[in-house]
Amino acid sequence: MKTYKDLPADGGSNIVEQVTQQANRLQQRLASVRHTVAIMSGKGGVGKSSVTANLASALGLRGHNVGVIDADINGPSIAKMMGVRGQRIDYGADGVKPALSPLGVKVMSMDLFLKDDETPVLWEAQTQKDAFTWRGTMEMSALREFLSDTEWGTLDYLLIDLPPGADRLPNLVDLLPNLGGTVVVTIPSEVSQLVVKKSLTMAKKLLNAPVIGIVENMAAYVCAGCGKTEDLFPSGHTEEMARQFDISLLGKIPFDPRISIAADEGNMFVDQYRDTPAGQIFFGITDEIRMFFERKM
Ligand SMILES: Nc1ncnc2c1ncn2[C@@H]1O[C@H](COP(=O)(O)OP(=O)(O)OP(=O)(O)O)[C@@H](O)[C@H]1O
Ligand SMILES: [Mg+2]
Repeated sequence: MKTYKDLPADGGSNIVEQVTQQANRLQQRLASVRHTVAIMSGKGGVGKSSVTANLASALGLRGHNVGVIDADINGPSIAKMMGVRGQRIDYGADGVKPALSPLGVKVMSMDLFLKDDETPVLWEAQTQKDAFTWRGTMEMSALREFLSDTEWGTLDYLLIDLPPGADRLPNLVDLLPNLGGTVVVTIPSEVSQLVVKKSLTMAKKLLNAPVIGIVENMAAYVCAGCGKTEDLFPSGHTEEMARQFDISLLGKIPFDPRISIAADEGNMFVDQYRDTPAGQIFFGITDEIRMFFERKM
């Protein structure tokens, strides 16, 4: 029986050269990106994509050149939230041209390649376990291609909306050795924080990049009639978690139904409702992130 040792070199596929070429392309592409920031959370549905879309737009409104990658290829939502759904993808001389949001943010998402709302990204695998492994591999390949094959041009910030779960973090290290930092999103419930703590431990151990801070989402409810703020969950857990991990709490975003309504309509909340409590907190978090990188320079 033949083993891989009997094959001439790499079997003729020139795989080593292909991998080297791809790594070089990734490095060249990211050379014109100043800061790469991953938005993560161990928990699903806590508002990662909403936070990513609004922070990217707020950075744009502060005058920066910004790009966003939706790394959740199984449930992409950034394109809709940022109002670029349905834009045609064009191919330039040097790669794929990203979609452009009404506020000028460059967006790349699997959503832009799906032909209609009902089309899922299919994982053909024999077993559930295979499907899981295959999905993780596909996600990282898609992220690699979004990073290296997109004509990002010169960017001040590239934000990456990661899918829920911390199991993809080890691959992220290989892909982005120069990751600038991570922002961790949580909601104030103890159950969410239990899961988020695990991701924080993993991020601190594995990633060659600092945790910029935690964002607490859906922290409180602002009454549309009287403007009074009421807690939705018992407060204080996020502060405790920040202390425990010695990281900053960047801001506490209240629950505001207009965040959801604006996203469904493809309008940016931070643009439409700048002067609301949630709008101001989004800008506050944005400025914390800017200061984090300014301090490093
Ligand atoms: N502060 C908020 N106030 C009101 N609605 C919010 C807020 N944050 C998020 N939402 C809504 O909650 C839902 C989930 O948010 P989102 O999709 O951003 O979460 P996610 O963490 O990215 O989810 P997933 O894990 O599925 O990727 C969305 O409908 C969004 O509009
Ligand atoms: Mg999401």
